[in-house]
Amino acid sequence: MTFIHQIRLDQADDTHRYPFTLPVVQHLIKHPLHLNTPVTFLTGDNGAGKSTLVEAIAVAAGFNAEGGTQSFNFATKATESSLGDYLTLRWGTRKPRTGFFLRAESFYNVATEIDRIGGGIHASYGGKSLHERSHGESFIDLMNHRFGSRGLYILDEPEAALSVKGCLTVLRRMHELVNESSQFIIATHSPILLAAPNATILEITDTIDEVSYDTAEPVRLTRNFLGDPNRFLKHLLD
Ligand SMILES: Nc1ncnc2c1ncn2[C@@H]1O[C@H](COP(=O)(O)OP(=O)(O)OP(=O)(O)O)[C@@H](O)[C@H]1O
Ligand SMILES: [Mg+2]
Repeated sequence: MTFIHQIRLDQADDTHRYPFTLPVVQHLIKHPLHLNTPVTFLTGDNGAGKSTLVEAIAVAAGFNAEGGTQSFNFATKATESSLGDYLTLRWGTRKPRTGFFLRAESFYNVATEIDRIGGGIHASYGGKSLHERSHGESFIDLMNHRFGSRGLYILDEPEAALSVKGCLTVLRRMHELVNESSQFIIATHSPILLAAPNATILEITDTIDEVSYDTAEPVRLTRNFLGDPNRFLKHLLD
């Protein structure tokens, strides 16, 4: 069971500017997304529109555009695309008890906001300022201490902070949280994270298509590369 069942985009008024000009956004107008599994991945090349889309989903779900919980409302810059105002989310009857929106790009600002709020809030984030932990450590602390059961978690490239081992730690924690009725929507390039069980992988090109783990581009390319790095490099560099 998911909290968000469907994501729909009704025709926007002004379609002649970013983000409405992106092919993926045009596609979404005609094809609503159905979220049937507790984990939904958005993958696809740089610039495909993953961050634009996850940010819009997060905003439509009531999160701050720069990240954090639903009660964060700081803003350091106005880059949010307003696509969120046009999205309609179809919710199930069960509501999330908690949640978090994480953008790798602005995690630093979330950490600053947590420090600013102060007053015991650090206890929910592993006991000390996230600025006093490494990028990866603070993300893993966040997942272990702040994320809980029945949560809605929207993450943009969590692997940006993580070693391969860190990705495996995150996979295990995600699995626990899914077993405790949480939902994840994750933009990622990580062939490791994509292996999460009970997941749907949506590949964004000009369209949004469901793909299997083995046919997802990050998995195919990484596998090809690791199968014979020298041959791959020779091909690439010649
Ligand atoms: N504020 C903005 N104004 C205009 N164009 C933008 C803005 N933000 C992003 N874009 C453009 O929209 C496209 C999609 O960007 P987006 O950040 O959603 O890609 P992405 O799939 O998340 O890529 P990556 O894998 O590199 O994170 C890009 O071509 C980008 O140049
Ligand atoms: Mg992105």
